[in-house]
Amino acid sequence: MLKGRKILLVIGGGIAAYKCLDLMRRLQDQGAQVVPVLTRAGAEFVTPLSVSALAGQKVHQDLFDLDAESEIGHIQLSRAADIIVVAPATADLMAKMANGLANDLASTLLMATDKPVLIAPSMNVRMWHHPATQRNVATLKSDGIHTVGPDEGSMACGEFGLGRMAEPADIIDAIKTVLNNGPLKGKHIVITSGPTHEPIDPVRYIANRSSGKQGAAIASALLARGAAVTFITGPTHEPLPDGAAIVQVETALEMLNAVEAAGPCNVAIFAAAVADWRVKDAVDSKIKKTGKGDLPEFDLVENPDILKSVAQRTENRPELVIGFAAETDNVLENATAKRLRKGCDWILANDVSPETGIMGGDKNKVLLISDTGVDAWPEMSKSEVANRLANKIVEALGDSNS
Ligand code: CTP
Repeated sequence: MLKGRKILLVIGGGIAAYKCLDLMRRLQDQGAQVVPVLTRAGAEFVTPLSVSALAGQKVHQDLFDLDAESEIGHIQLSRAADIIVVAPATADLMAKMANGLANDLASTLLMATDKPVLIAPSMNVRMWHHPATQRNVATLKSDGIHTVGPDEGSMACGEFGLGRMAEPADIIDAIKTVLNNGPLKGKHIVITSGPTHEPIDPVRYIANRSSGKQGAAIASALLARGAAVTFITGPTHEPLPDGAAIVQVETALEMLNAVEAAGPCNVAIFAAAVADWRVKDAVDSKIKKTGKGDLPEFDLVENPDILKSVAQRTENRPELVIGFAAETDNVLENATAKRLRKGCDWILANDVSPETGIMGGDKNKVLLISDTGVDAWPEMSKSEVANRLANKIVEALGDSNS
């Protein structure tokens, strides 16, 4: 469930900072992107070079770094993440957070963010039990800051007790718990994705160029916001979204059955490029050439429209039904008509002409068409499209629940 998640990791100045190198590795192994911020004290314990080498990107250190400000301001840095993790959270950093001080990059980010914050305190046992620290912990908890640890054990300073930073595996579990309590917690979302393969005979099939990337990115973005996702996918090479209930299908008919079997849902998203036709009588043995130049003949029949069948349900219709429109000509006009014809609430239209490179590629450029009009999104990565869509879904469900 960490795949595609962006984690802003603030590394504070404590001996446990070295564990953050392991934490970063493990987060990356699970598909998360780690954006590191190193405090001045943190840099006394781990070097900026080792942190940036492991993160595979620049480590942010300075509030008044004009280069960084012109590329990505500290406000943006604090908002672009799914979660901010402070590890180790020293007594000093916690005191700053609890009192609203913002005099360096880390404390400013923590004040400016609108994202969940998880701290992993680490300090000497007496510092942990000090009434000032305990007051700060209570304040931070009542401010909605999540905590993991500290653990009990022997410390670098030779004393024993509470104050050791939680182990990386426990920090990762805590990150997952925080992220799972996102705004879509309790919502069931069904997504279709990828192409379908319609058999002609046991070795040949009708298919299309869909990679399944956009559907998988949408699943990850929704999982990240706490939704329970049923991900129904045709055959693809794309990694499956971690944490979703996965149903792998081959044909349009199997996809339709899987959508029906997924049961009621709050939102249904149809990102699959379903083959419009299947071979009426696919045969069980390989069709052979006759050697006389005869061509095989087969009839095609139209596949059921899965999106339409859900959008036009009279019972158990999801609150929000979202389709895609893959077009090569008259994108807006065709997609607008498609939305009405199918009865879905939103349609994301994209131009899949070969020169756009969208089908199978990493970028997408969509028009979001709804009953309130058309919103043209700039070209962005498929994961950015997914995040933007997920945020719109959060907004829409929030409105419908209020
Ligand atoms: N769709 C579906 N079942 C089908 C065909 C399409 O659920 N049998 C869904 C797709 O997942 C997409 C939307 O309908 O969300 C539009 O798909 P698209 O291929 O653009 O349109 P078609 O309905 O196939 O129409 P056409 O090929 O004529 O453009």
